[in-house]
Amino acid sequence: MFDLIVKAGTLPDGSIADIAITGDRIVATGRIDGAAKEVIDATGDLVAPPFVDPHFHMDATLSYGLPRVNASGTLLEGISLWGELREIATVDDMVSRALTYCDWAASMGLLAIRTHVDTTPDHLRGVEAMLEVKRQVAGYIDLQLVAFPQDGLYRTPTGRANVLRALDMGVDVVGGIPHFERTMEEGAESMRDLCRIAAERGLRIDVHCDETDDPMSRHVETLAREVTRHGLGVRATGSHLTSMHSMDNYYVSKLLPLIAESGMTAIPNPLINITLQGRHDSYPKRRGLTRVKEMQAHGITVGWGQDCVMDPWYSLGTADMLDVAFMGLHVAQMTHPEEMARCFRMVTEDNARIMGLEGYGLKTGDVASLVVLDAGTPTEALRLRAERLAVVSKGKVISRRERNDARLGLPGRPGTVRRRLAAH
Ligand code: FE2
Repeated sequence: MFDLIVKAGTLPDGSIADIAITGDRIVATGRIDGAAKEVIDATGDLVAPPFVDPHFHMDATLSYGLPRVNASGTLLEGISLWGELREIATVDDMVSRALTYCDWAASMGLLAIRTHVDTTPDHLRGVEAMLEVKRQVAGYIDLQLVAFPQDGLYRTPTGRANVLRALDMGVDVVGGIPHFERTMEEGAESMRDLCRIAAERGLRIDVHCDETDDPMSRHVETLAREVTRHGLGVRATGSHLTSMHSMDNYYVSKLLPLIAESGMTAIPNPLINITLQGRHDSYPKRRGLTRVKEMQAHGITVGWGQDCVMDPWYSLGTADMLDVAFMGLHVAQMTHPEEMARCFRMVTEDNARIMGLEGYGLKTGDVASLVVLDAGTPTEALRLRAERLAVVSKGKVISRRERNDARLGLPGRPGTVRRRLAAH
């Protein structure tokens, strides 16, 4: 007797299979005749491994309008606004907002999140809060914390010391922000310093790198070099990398092989950077996105990150990684059928690789986490931002939703009216 069988779902590769779960593991797949305590009929629905968000700021989430809105819409006003908010937000405020967000995420099938935690203030209340959130959601969401010196590693007297303090407190990943240091040289030095720290402590590193329209912001070059030097490989990530959008093509032709050689991964954040970047341009206005297809063509793992939901930098968002992939698909012009399918893999498999998740997938032996979507294929899920009909996390059904009749007119998922009429 299994605990749960998800029956006859269509997997992302197009095959149809039952998935049997006992405890927190997938114990059988294929055609399963055995009984189960609970059965989810996924006939005609897409069954995928859970969504993964490798780039988020949970200490700031759901704070939109506190203490005021970002009037200019720029990254820099967002940073200064957050500087005010983090001094008045209590640990309880941050825990409560983050837990609400985790509820949203879980109901959207988003079951693993890497969140950057600002380590700038000496009180480290954000770190304290996020460690508590990580503990509270551990049963249904895998939360990875990054020690993020928002105001620079060297720009504040205790910037570097606070990153180390946060790591000592149990934060998982080393963070950085080289383009925000005072000089190019100090930015490059921060990359050498932080990669050394990651290597010495055996930790992952994920840097907000070159989040600017300045084509001369080339810290990704130093990052890649240091990742290679220390053999960090897939444990290292460059987030944003927006300056690559504006770089000279000849320089990029040298840069891409260096990034590929290092084995590091990349996380563009399309919802945020399409709104934040290009704000100093008149027309033509640059797109705020790095070179996604070009990196993938070089074998570099690229995932889509969400970055922000209702905070000083971004006023919208619903914890839906299909929204993120949908925007990324458009901005990066990934419209070929294979590229659209890739966009779905980016918010599932590729993001899981970036975070180094163990037992991720739908094979026997994998962790029993999955999402049932009201769509027939990954591309259709993107097109419809499909309803999450069921979410299973570590063997437990944590969310169920009815099929949404409002979508009945959408081609590709017909049959709701006919099904209902036939039932009468
Ligand atoms: Fe970020």
